[in-house]
Amino acid sequence: MSQDSKKDATTKTIEQSFPLELPKDPSRRNWIGATCAIGGAATVAALVPFVGSMLPSERAKAAGAPVTVNISDIAPGEMRTVEWQGKPVWIIRRTTQMLNTLKSITDRLADPNSKRPGFTPAFANNEFRSRKQEWLVVVGICTHLGCSPSSFFTEGDSQGMSRDWPGGFLCPCHGSQFDLAGRVFKNQPAPDNLLVPPYYFIDDSNIMIGLEKPAA
Ligand code: FES
Repeated sequence: MSQDSKKDATTKTIEQSFPLELPKDPSRRNWIGATCAIGGAATVAALVPFVGSMLPSERAKAAGAPVTVNISDIAPGEMRTVEWQGKPVWIIRRTTQMLNTLKSITDRLADPNSKRPGFTPAFANNEFRSRKQEWLVVVGICTHLGCSPSSFFTEGDSQGMSRDWPGGFLCPCHGSQFDLAGRVFKNQPAPDNLLVPPYYFIDDSNIMIGLEKPAA
């Protein structure tokens, strides 16, 4: 099995557990929340006795707690999926070639500069949609109806995409395509770019997901 196909198989297994309920009206541009239809029911059932014994403040913390991720072993061109607030968050270490591709496809994107409100925090409002060019951090949930897209990082048609495919993500549900900055292509079912969550770099090897800066 090739490296790419192995990665895709892993990705799909994780992603299929995170269908999401998104706003019916895309103009609201607000995140309503994730509904974990497959894995969620079992997870919630397992957690109820434990969560029920917690104080209210502890329950709130567990539901929205920030997550620290060590990124030192993610190689260029690789992606890791972590869970935050019950949602899959992708961390992708982009190569120079990937970054160069982002600049060459802006006329094919619906919102190349992430001007639409609600999906890109101010710190990521740049052509890379990130704090550091190399690192992309996005919530891996399609802004159409909440499926989780699969990764197809290789340019061209070797992974079954079109010949002019620049590398990115394909949502298996209705075919929405996103680039390597989580930007949606034009004329797709998905109305918006993938959500960039709050995060910051603790140091060169660790990211905190769920906060934009250290808690005071
Ligand atoms: S849920 Fe992704 S294209 Fe419909």
